[in-house]
Amino acid sequence: MSWQQRIEGGLAQRRQQEAYRVRLANDGGGGRWLEYDARRYLNYSSNDYLGLGAHPAIVRAWQQGAERYGVGSGGSGHVTGYTHAHAILEQQLADWLGYPRALLFISGYAANQAVVAALAEPGDRILADKLSHASLLEAAAHSPATLRRFHHNQADSLQSLLSKPAGGQTLAVTEGVFSMDGDSAPLAALHQHCREHAALLMVDDAHGIGVMGEQGRGSCWQQGVKPELLVVTFGKAVGVSGAAVLCSEPLAEYFLQFARHLIYSTSMPPAQACALSAALHVVQESDDRRARLHANIRCFREGARSLSFRMLDSSSAIQPLIIGDNGRTLAVSQRLRAQGLWVSAMRPPTVPPGSARLRITLTATHQPDDIDQLLEALHEAG
Ligand SMILES: Cc1ncc(COP(=O)(O)O)c(C=O)c1O
Repeated sequence: MSWQQRIEGGLAQRRQQEAYRVRLANDGGGGRWLEYDARRYLNYSSNDYLGLGAHPAIVRAWQQGAERYGVGSGGSGHVTGYTHAHAILEQQLADWLGYPRALLFISGYAANQAVVAALAEPGDRILADKLSHASLLEAAAHSPATLRRFHHNQADSLQSLLSKPAGGQTLAVTEGVFSMDGDSAPLAALHQHCREHAALLMVDDAHGIGVMGEQGRGSCWQQGVKPELLVVTFGKAVGVSGAAVLCSEPLAEYFLQFARHLIYSTSMPPAQACALSAALHVVQESDDRRARLHANIRCFREGARSLSFRMLDSSSAIQPLIIGDNGRTLAVSQRLRAQGLWVSAMRPPTVPPGSARLRITLTATHQPDDIDQLLEALHEAG
């Protein structure tokens, strides 16, 4: 098959499955409102759960950081790209989340890939929740270790895989709050099984940090669990971008030697690290925002019970409504858009086949009327 046939075939397949993806350039879409094509939409697709993306103190910290350091980092952290702004942010994260060390990464995708790739060796096994993020499953599949997936959120399923003999070491992987289902992992049970089998547990808490637990410390803190590896990302409730891995001293040193994404990639701009330091302060002091977000979640779930769409068991900001069929999901999303509501349709391969859904995300910035308007439109669409 030629390159041309392969490319055209791939595109045709996506169209035929009604899974073709397009990007729409908007004029600002992180907050309560999304502006697109000279129209304003109520935004139910942003991961800026606390509404911090345009917070004045965070924006100012970024500007001041740019004035102090310029806009780039100039290299990887091992060369010139590790400044006092990075060091201060790492220490702040480690202190806040109760770990000896934190290492910054340019994105959550890079952090997950780097950790898995640095740790996995031939003979090892990676046991991942079936619904783990693409960055984790892909890194595990490409690693020299064997990838096995356990049933979603079922600690017994992990336990049964752990009890089979392994040649090398075992890394278990899960998310705190699942990105497409919004449900939370049973972290205490998973960690208990891991400890019984000398396995390391890695938790990606991209959607829990800032939202769950005291001061927004995330799912692990909320559940009283300290996994050996905790990944937090800053593009969602923290309102910025980037990520960090929290771990022990030896693991951090190991990553500095072997994590290729740290060694062969330009580090985050120091101005961004300044913004993130400010953002973490705001997150810690945002109990009022978390209270509003959780009130919005309760209000939505209450009203959505009578919808004809299937809800999932989620107490997080992610409230999916399962429709199943790709075409129908797109049609509902477009119908909502015509009514001024921006709700993303998630289709395979992002979600399992037959489980296309509206991925509704709620934020602290939504007003009670916004939720009523959404519920009314969903009732009509259903
Ligand atoms: C669970 C999870 N982990 C990691 C990522 C990737 O993080 P980032 O956007 O910082 O690359 C995402 C999505 O963005 C996610 O949903």
